[in-house]
Amino acid sequence: MAGRREKYGQSLRGSKIAIAIVIGVLLGCVFAFLFPQGLFSSSDPPTRNRRLSKSSLQVDSSSCDSPERINLLKSDIMKLSEKNAELKKQVRELKEKLQLAAQGKGHAEEQVVALSEPRKAGPFGTVKGLRTNPPVLPDESVNPRLAKILAEVAVRKEVIVAVANSNVRDMLEVWFTSIKKAGIPNYLVVALDDAMVEFCKSNDVPVYKRDPDKNVDLIGKTGGNHAVSALKFRILREFLQLGYSVLLSDVDIVYLQNPFDHFQRDSDVESMTDGHSNMTAYGYNDVFDEPAMGWARYAHTMRIWVYNSGFFFMRPTIPSIELLDRVADRLSQEKNSWDQAVFNEELFFPSHPGYVGLHAAKRTLDFYLFMNSKVLFKTVRKDAALKKLKPVIVHINYHPDKLSRMRAVVEFYANGKADALDQFPDGSEW
Ligand SMILES: *[C@@H]1O[C@H](CO)[C@@H](O)[C@H](O)[C@H]1NC(C)=O
Repeated sequence: MAGRREKYGQSLRGSKIAIAIVIGVLLGCVFAFLFPQGLFSSSDPPTRNRRLSKSSLQVDSSSCDSPERINLLKSDIMKLSEKNAELKKQVRELKEKLQLAAQGKGHAEEQVVALSEPRKAGPFGTVKGLRTNPPVLPDESVNPRLAKILAEVAVRKEVIVAVANSNVRDMLEVWFTSIKKAGIPNYLVVALDDAMVEFCKSNDVPVYKRDPDKNVDLIGKTGGNHAVSALKFRILREFLQLGYSVLLSDVDIVYLQNPFDHFQRDSDVESMTDGHSNMTAYGYNDVFDEPAMGWARYAHTMRIWVYNSGFFFMRPTIPSIELLDRVADRLSQEKNSWDQAVFNEELFFPSHPGYVGLHAAKRTLDFYLFMNSKVLFKTVRKDAALKKLKPVIVHINYHPDKLSRMRAVVEFYANGKADALDQFPDGSEW
């Protein structure tokens, strides 16, 4: 800290010296005009000499041979002192910023300082808050090998990413077959074991295997569904650091259209929802009734069904990376927490005493286009109008018999088999 202060002190001193030099040069010019024959010529009246030596800045135009020139010089001097004032102001502002940072009040304040260029608010109805964070500066050095793969695979710096070990081989096959059929070129499988690498290669599926990493590898090879699911938050970080937008995709998903045609790209995170209606998917006011409170018996609450952490699109921004870090950090410390719950808590809980919430922009994807399996099996397949609608994806997130329901979705939507969904019950039968 002391070192940084010193630096600003030096630059202030430096600017003072520069100003002194300029004033000296200007003074030289004044002398040259007033005493073209030199200071010690016989015609030089002593009074002039005294007046000038009294103050270098007070040039008396009445005593000058060329008033316009002197005026010019005067205005130059004015400009210089304005510049000096401006420099002083900048130094003062920098010092204030340094002080704020030194107080270590946390990430939020520093970001506010960095973004706080005061602006006037426009008229009623015209103001809009900052919603699209700028992308990070791509840093190839974090993983040159992955950077090379992404350069080949990604389209417009966007890519679908699935994390898979050999346990999910059959679902992955339905997954990439549907992606190929929908004509989507930009997808990549992060393989957690060698058999998965081979499987992808033999099916002409772009695959990437991470460099060995003890912690991750153990979970990746032996981990159950939720453990593997938690890994993705660690794995995705490098993709974002390399400057790519990532559509994280579980493998129990069937693709029917290109999802990249359906994102708004106005948020850090666009996610599919576990909701099944306008209210549950997009948020509503849920009134809690406590009759004992009499006149104030109704307490209003805000509710929204969670985002599905098995299908979300992330722009490569600082809040996106912060979200990944927060979730990965909590999952590594809390043994029994579920990654989807943690993902949503970090996204939605506001700052409060002792806690700084994430400042990320989020968008809920259309629940008919990015359809979960409850919406499909409880509502859509029974509704003549909704049945005609073609989703972008269907995620078998609500049902354990994933593979057979995935295949049925392919039959129904891609192969036009009208009764393909009929054999399944609405929910699972335990
Ligand atoms: C849900 O919202 C959409 C879009 O705002 C609207 O068109 C539709 O009628 C709504 N559905 C219901 C059941 O309210």
